[in-house]
Amino acid sequence: MPTHQSLSGVSDADLLQRMIATHPERFGEPFWAFFAEHVGPRLTARPTIVDLGCGPGLVLRDLAERYPAARLYGYDVTPAMITHARQLVYRSATPTLAVHDVTAQPLPHGRGTVQLVCMSSVLHVLDEPLPVLAEIRRVLAADGTFLLNDWVRQPLASYLAWRREVMGEGEVESRRRGFRLFPMHNKYTPEDWQWLLGEAGFAIRHQTELRPAHRVFVASPI
Ligand SMILES: C[S@@+](CC[C@H](N)C(=O)[O-])C[C@H]1O[C@@H](n2cnc3c(N)ncnc32)[C@H](O)[C@@H]1O
Repeated sequence: MPTHQSLSGVSDADLLQRMIATHPERFGEPFWAFFAEHVGPRLTARPTIVDLGCGPGLVLRDLAERYPAARLYGYDVTPAMITHARQLVYRSATPTLAVHDVTAQPLPHGRGTVQLVCMSSVLHVLDEPLPVLAEIRRVLAADGTFLLNDWVRQPLASYLAWRREVMGEGEVESRRRGFRLFPMHNKYTPEDWQWLLGEAGFAIRHQTELRPAHRVFVASPI
């Protein structure tokens, strides 16, 4: 199966470094303020939280800081991501971390046992999102929450400008990477995400764009 890396031409090591470098901007104060207002109140006292496609584990580390009683799980298909997540220091017990291809294997959780599934910048990569959304819905509790954070489509010129201005890429690099990644990062409109979530049996509770080109959805099983 072609991976994100083979499709985008970005190596595992490069993706890891980019995820680490951009983490503070992607998961800064606006994100956690939104989380505290719209997700935190939906959690139980000792919630089970899964970060699907957890990358370097930094969101799990941030969650452990804010919800030290939570039982945390992180899954990612890229071994280098899980290796990085394993050597982080967590305020809570170290999360359960595993190399896992969400398109190929069921999640190792029973039906209705998870309070929160987070998925950031992962779903757009997958060829067929609906079976993965069905699996997320299976593990979520009836009052559970799916926090989807992903790219939304923008015009080519704005996308290339975003790579220069926000990612800090030069003209040549922004074009080399930008033309390659444009189809992947600009696959879904906000309306497409809304349709996908509805089709998969989720109701959208809140949504917002905290950063240009990305939309956050707080959804729950219908
Ligand atoms: C753009 S990174 C985002 C990482 C992390 N969620 C973050 O926001 O920092 C996408 C991640 O999805 C992972 N991924 C891609 N396809 C996957 C799959 N089929 N199963 C599990 N993880 C996958 C990649 O290995 C990568 O770590």
